[in-house]
Amino acid sequence: MARMTQRMKELFLKVPAAILATSDNSAIPNAVPVGAKKIIDDETVLISDQFLNKTLNNICANPHVAITFWEGQEGYQIKGIATIETSGQRYEDTAAWIKDLGNKIGFPLKSKGALIVKVEEIYGVSPGPGAGKKLA
Ligand SMILES: Cc1cc2nc3c(=O)[nH]c(=O)nc-3n(C[C@H](O)[C@H](O)[C@H](O)COP(=O)(O)O)c2cc1C
Repeated sequence: MARMTQRMKELFLKVPAAILATSDNSAIPNAVPVGAKKIIDDETVLISDQFLNKTLNNICANPHVAITFWEGQEGYQIKGIATIETSGQRYEDTAAWIKDLGNKIGFPLKSKGALIVKVEEIYGVSPGPGAGKKLA
């Protein structure tokens, strides 16, 4: 398990979207943008699933994911293990949050599930001497 710093958590929440990468049993990659994201704690993030399809299939086959996010020249990559919750408090809270979000933007949105990612490793992806360095 690895812990995100305050700065990493701030940036994760601030960026409009992060890139969520998964792969299937044949190692075929799939990377998609996700904007409905929250921090649960220093070692856990949540992504709401409204539209994910290949991503979900991949996670069922292989729960290892990578999430990359950046602003300007500063960026981080989380590697972690994903699980999908479709019931329970975290899902209920996510469903209410996404419904509310949909109401605010005037476009109905429904969360199908809460993707919970336990952070295992964190790498820097900023260009420069520290590029790709393991940070946690
Ligand atoms: C900026 C942006 C943010 C997005 N955020 C989310 C999100 O938070 N949750 C979601 O389920 N889909 C989100 N999507 C849509 C998915 O990325 C998209 O439906 C994708 O095709 C799902 O791919 P998959 O079938 O490979 O899983 C977003 C798309 C964009 C362009």
